[in-house]
Amino acid sequence: MKRMLIGVLLSVFMLGGIAWAEESCIVCHSETTPGQVADWRVSAHAENDVTCSYCHGEEHTSADDVAKAAFPAEQVCSECHQEQFDSFATGKHNYGWTSLNALPITHVEPDELMEGGRGCGGCHNMGIKTEAQKAEQLAKGHRYQNNSCDECHTRHTFSKKEAQDPRACQQCHMGYDHPQWEMWSSAKHGTRWFAKEGGRLPEGAQAPTCQECHLPDGTHSNHTAWGFLGVRLPLPEDPHEKADKITILKALGVLNPETGKPTPRLALVQSVDMIRSTQEAFDLERDKMINTCKKCHSETYARTQLEMGDSMLTKADVLLAKAIRIVAGLYKDGIIEKPADYAFAYPDFLYFLRTNGAKIDGMTHIDQVLFKMYMKHRMRTYQGQFHVNPDYAYWYGWAQMTNDLGEIEELDKLMRASHAKAH
Ligand code: HEC
Ligand code: HEC
Ligand code: HEC
Ligand code: HEC
Ligand code: HEC
Ligand code: HEC
Ligand code: HEC
Ligand code: HEC
Repeated sequence: MKRMLIGVLLSVFMLGGIAWAEESCIVCHSETTPGQVADWRVSAHAENDVTCSYCHGEEHTSADDVAKAAFPAEQVCSECHQEQFDSFATGKHNYGWTSLNALPITHVEPDELMEGGRGCGGCHNMGIKTEAQKAEQLAKGHRYQNNSCDECHTRHTFSKKEAQDPRACQQCHMGYDHPQWEMWSSAKHGTRWFAKEGGRLPEGAQAPTCQECHLPDGTHSNHTAWGFLGVRLPLPEDPHEKADKITILKALGVLNPETGKPTPRLALVQSVDMIRSTQEAFDLERDKMINTCKKCHSETYARTQLEMGDSMLTKADVLLAKAIRIVAGLYKDGIIEKPADYAFAYPDFLYFLRTNGAKIDGMTHIDQVLFKMYMKHRMRTYQGQFHVNPDYAYWYGWAQMTNDLGEIEELDKLMRASHAKAH
């Protein structure tokens, strides 16, 4: 009690005229969660008297009513940061949770990986949630991970400088299917940034960060021309290229494999802005990016570099489409059975590497190789090209795709032979 009193006096001294409820939070939490109070103390919020109760409400006041503590959604931040909130709301990050939940795989994987913030949910908890989405989470007993604003400037320091550091993007933009961190940090752009960071290049030296190319001039709205899936509309005019893209769109389940007509999934994918649906939408993003490159390179140089990324994607798609057609042939000939929850007897990329759990049928090995070719190696091939990383574009990307195709051709032969023997 004596310690508490000293605490109260101390905080009155330090905080000046702040209301009692807020002081009590700080006093008690200096004991219960001292690290959080320490972080808050060094923040711009503490400097500006934005205290705990602004964000967490005043209803919880003791250890007995902890459940009454509110968790601030992004709307709370918007009360003082409308500009960033509005801009975030128009970007791709705002679709993280919705696009995750739009996938069939999400509903058959362990919930710990979705809501628990380690697997898919650890990166896809980005985005302002609808009331229905929040209610769904609460019904499962999950009340954390609602706020996306602490993903780049972490709580409770909420620092602008931290968010300007490319390492703020690392946790999510790394690994299996989107190793942008690895690509950037081990290519020339990143190498320069680290050299500058270590004081080995003068202060004025130029080194582009993720933020400079993707969130320029303080915007919170992010889009790229190709996006993650590397597919777009309108389809190319060249008949071979067009056929390859159609095959890929069928494996994404947005075109009906039998009729070639759009499925309901196309509208779903468009509703979360997963693909650019018009040439204008693509060009808009491309031109924005070129404007950034132009700060340090000639426009001609930059355009040539990005167009090489586009044509590399077209070449990767020749290999991928070939592999899809082989596996689709196995479905067609009844050698692979259509899993009960698939819409079509055709490979479906949005089921990811489904497990052999009780709830669903497992994936065949050849389907898994095909998925890896698409999700891991094709991504690396073109993302590596765009991020100027030689090893990712070639050895981790293109070379692996050719290897996958070889394996698929071999498996096809073996599966057909053993099927013929059994029948
Ligand atoms: C008398 C002590 C005390 C006071 C006063 C107090 N808290 Fe707490 N608070 C706690 C304890 C204890 C916990 C539970 C910690 C745990 O789970 O280990 C807690 C938990 C919390 C949580 C997390 C809830 C959760 O579900 O994880 C928040 C947020 C919080 N307090 C904010 C506040 C705010 C804001 C105020 C002031 C309006 C405040 N606290 C006042 C003791 C206090
Ligand atoms: C500017 C808003 C803001 C302020 C001010 C703020 N918090 Fe938080 N706090 C957050 C956000 C955002 C979260 C994470 C919510 C979520 O899970 O989505 C959080 C989570 C928490 C949690 C639960 C999660 C954990 O890591 O344990 C506790 C406890 C907490 N805050 C305590 C405090 C205390 C104590 C203060 C005052 C010293 C404070 N907060 C001030 C925004 C704030
Ligand atoms: C009651 C008003 C208020 C609320 C609510 C609020 N902030 Fe702030 N915030 C401020 C003020 C004032 C500053 C300091 C001046 C400025 O940078 O605008 C600030 C600064 C910041 C900064 C820049 C810090 C720096 O290093 O320069 C970030 C980032 C930030 N807030 C994020 C958030 C987030 C995220 C939330 C919601 C969880 C939030 N704020 C809620 C008032 C608020
Ligand atoms: C390490 C963080 C991380 C994990 C784990 C993760 N994702 Fe992602 N996901 C991302 C990032 C980052 C992107 C955007 C990548 C890009 O554009 O290159 C993305 C993109 C996506 C997209 C496409 C969104 C779009 O609009 O283009 C879907 C759908 C998706 N992820 C679903 C999932 C599912 C389902 C899981 C779990 C099986 C998962 N993700 C696990 C970080 C992650
Ligand atoms: C993807 C990462 C990321 C997320 C998520 C994010 N921010 Fe930021 N934020 C940044 C970056 C980068 C900056 C620095 C911009 C600059 O260089 O001017 C920044 C700066 C800020 C600033 C300081 C503005 C200034 O110039 O003083 C505020 C306030 C802020 N963000 C609020 C928010 C709010 C509110 C949210 C949630 C709606 C949010 N941020 C989500 C990356 C992010
Ligand atoms: C020099 C500019 C530049 C830097 C720095 C940069 N990128 Fe990119 N990024 C690009 C370009 C160009 C594309 C492809 C745009 C298109 O589709 O035309 C791209 C694409 C992306 C995509 C979409 C999928 C893909 O990979 O093609 C994501 C996500 C991404 N970058 C994240 C990051 C992250 C995270 C960092 C930092 C670790 C980073 N980028 C650094 C220029 C850059
Ligand atoms: C908490 C995880 C997380 C962090 C941190 C994060 N991102 Fe993302 N990012 C994602 C997810 C998830 C997506 C895909 C969202 C969707 O479903 O459309 C994404 C998408 C993107 C895209 C859009 C690619 C496209 O499809 O057009 C870009 C660009 C991007 N992020 C850049 C950044 C940059 C730059 C940073 C750091 C300042 C950053 N991100 C920090 C999770 C994150
Ligand atoms: C802030 C300045 C800056 C921006 C913006 C920038 N770059 Fe660079 N870029 C550099 C520097 C510096 C190098 C290293 C030059 C060297 O290797 O001597 C480099 C290297 C490259 C290289 C490799 C050249 C080589 O000789 O290895 C390519 C390709 C490249 N950039 C393309 C781009 C593209 C495309 C964009 C836009 C998406 C872009 N850059 C944006 C500064 C920048």
